[in-house]
Amino acid sequence: MKPLLGTLCLLGMLVHSGLGHHRSPVQQTQKLVDKTVTPWRSLETYSYNKYHRMEEIYQWMSQISEKYPDVVTQRFLGMTYETRPMYYLKISQPSDNTKKIIWMDCGIHAREWIAPAFCQWFVKEILQNYRDNSRIRRLLTYLDFYVLPVLNIDGYIYTWTTDRLWRKSRSSHDDGACFGTDLNRNFNSSWCSIGASKNCLDETFCGAGPVSEPETKAVSSLIESKKEDILCFLTIHSYGQLILTPYGYTKNKSSNHEELIQVGQKAANALKAKHGTNYRVGASADILYALSGSSRDWAKDIGIPFAYTFELRDNGTYQFVLPEDQIQDTCEETMEAVLSIMDDVYAKYWHSNSTRRVTSTTVVLSLLVPFMSLF
Ligand code: ARG
Ligand code: ZN
Repeated sequence: MKPLLGTLCLLGMLVHSGLGHHRSPVQQTQKLVDKTVTPWRSLETYSYNKYHRMEEIYQWMSQISEKYPDVVTQRFLGMTYETRPMYYLKISQPSDNTKKIIWMDCGIHAREWIAPAFCQWFVKEILQNYRDNSRIRRLLTYLDFYVLPVLNIDGYIYTWTTDRLWRKSRSSHDDGACFGTDLNRNFNSSWCSIGASKNCLDETFCGAGPVSEPETKAVSSLIESKKEDILCFLTIHSYGQLILTPYGYTKNKSSNHEELIQVGQKAANALKAKHGTNYRVGASADILYALSGSSRDWAKDIGIPFAYTFELRDNGTYQFVLPEDQIQDTCEETMEAVLSIMDDVYAKYWHSNSTRRVTSTTVVLSLLVPFMSLF
């Protein structure tokens, strides 16, 4: 608030010194009000190469849905523990097709700032390019994107105000003795069996019970209600440069493990082609660590065929405090990986369905032809 007040005083002085002479006092006042409410003037000057405070991300969400009302809608998902509204953006081209859904959330862990930066980058890229870029246009013909830019809003704000390295949510436990649940240990997938703690002082505290946290509940119930239509569940973290598949809670392989690895490896190759960054691909329990209660494992277990966790840059130099000058390259390369996954998911779904359609047509014909030959 202080630098803002400083800016106001400075602007006021400029107005009085006559620099603003060509505008009326009313216009000047309006400009000052805009400046107070909006630290960036408009969507056109929003910087995707910076990290943003939550208030700015809220404004960004509503401005982007106002600018592209035909393709983006801001939808209410639920309330956080500290009663802040959670919204996701639904990106959808109006059409008569029944479409499948790609889910992507960012910022379930508060300190992983590059994740919300990527969700915003992703939305920007889709909206700036869907008219002219045939690849994105094709994806949007068959798929809707549901993007949750900051899942753990309370925690994210806390990393800006108080503790840059805070990871968990901000719920209170043991009568205020400790704070925060690791939301990525709170989902209903083998809850708190491994790689999670029942001690609320710990970084991986799994919460009072499965889905005990309002943020987890909000995400779970939306996903549950749409699960028949969700083809792919992506959840974005940092750091470690990994594309992780289910499972974390067991060494057992998921039903389509080979396919997940193959699609993931292709995405890692596309990512590397952009700026040369190396990613590893594998099941969480194999290449990172065992963990229970993750959203990815839960999504896979309720029947979503493709589920991945991304651990973005870096590899340990800056860890969770990735410098802003790496935002652009990180987002560019991650975009390549995510588009590669979407192309594959779409192609696989469309292919397997058209095969089924062809098969049923063939069956009908083979029944009809002998019947008609009777006449
Ligand atoms: N985002 C990760 C998590 O969900 C933390 C990754 C830490 N990176 C690492 N290489 N250990 O826990
Ligand atoms: Zn994380």
